[in-house]
Amino acid sequence: MNTATITWQSPSNIALIKYWGKHGTQLPNNASLSLTLSQANTTTSLALKKKKKKTGIELDFKFEGKKNEPFAEKIATFLTSLIDELPFLNEYALTINSENSFPHSAGIASSASAMSALSLCLLSQHMITDKREYKPEQFYQKASHYARLGSGSASRSVYPDFALWGKSAHVKAGNDKYAIQYPNKFSSDFNDLQDSILIVNEKEKAVSSRAGHALMNNHSMAKQRYVNAEARMKDLLSALTKGDWDLFCTTVEIEALELHALMMTSNPSFILMKPGTLEIIERVRRFRLETKIPVCFTLDAGPNVHLLYPYFEKKKVRNFIQEELLEFCTKKKIIYDSMGSGPQLRIDD
Ligand code: DP6
Repeated sequence: MNTATITWQSPSNIALIKYWGKHGTQLPNNASLSLTLSQANTTTSLALKKKKKKTGIELDFKFEGKKNEPFAEKIATFLTSLIDELPFLNEYALTINSENSFPHSAGIASSASAMSALSLCLLSQHMITDKREYKPEQFYQKASHYARLGSGSASRSVYPDFALWGKSAHVKAGNDKYAIQYPNKFSSDFNDLQDSILIVNEKEKAVSSRAGHALMNNHSMAKQRYVNAEARMKDLLSALTKGDWDLFCTTVEIEALELHALMMTSNPSFILMKPGTLEIIERVRRFRLETKIPVCFTLDAGPNVHLLYPYFEKKKVRNFIQEELLEFCTKKKIIYDSMGSGPQLRIDD
């Protein structure tokens, strides 16, 4: 017996306050806050076929139409860890197809969109086949929880606009086990916040997230890092509420540079910025000073630059990007992204 095919499209996100360092079962060492994107996303479909015997996970996985063993193994491990919570995983053979809206080599983190899309599919199938009911808020909370077990940053991808993951003295509803949608009202200045991703280098990351987080375990600056992350969370929340662009830009940039400072000073040490990254940073700061236009940068654990700016300055900033920053982008690659409205579901019989 086959069931309906469930398809979820789920976005990537960029952290403004970074998750860096974890403990226990994928629990973050500090709270993080991210912008949900709209253009960079993963579409995953999950179809089920009843098995005769309960034989554990049976998976046929394809990424962009082709078999992909490393991804399939990662997913099988993830699914095995969920068998007790999702009984249907034992009873059905799974066919999973997944594709990204962005090239795999673009240097954009895909685990957030991939793991959130898969978790949403799993939970939707669980509701149908295991006959469970969840109210929307519970549904997204549970999906975020599963996504977190797959990849920490994925927990934040199930919500629109801004998402927050982890306990913080500044957010009552903050929780280490799942992310929540940004709990306060943010200034309309941040509606449709723009994120242009300048691809300085499209090679695979030099350090995997897992190895990266582990670098924090014995880091000489770890204690101070977590104090700083809390203080910056407070500043960012205040900037978002008040529409304070100066505070927003300062907070987001220092946070990104601290992430890299931590990587540079860990053992082993990693320098992930490239000369082009630094050129872009300098030019962005000069442009902001000269024009008073609030454009700032953030970075992931890699060399590519996310430029953040308000929707109402889109035209001027895009001209600046084209005229002054394009030369530092490999193959002139830029992804013009912006605040997204969260995941979307499709059900096909
Ligand atoms: C620098 O979520 O990729 O992008 O939980 O090991 O899968 P795992 O790590 P991952 O780490 C993301 C680190 C970061 C900051 C962030 O997104 O908050």
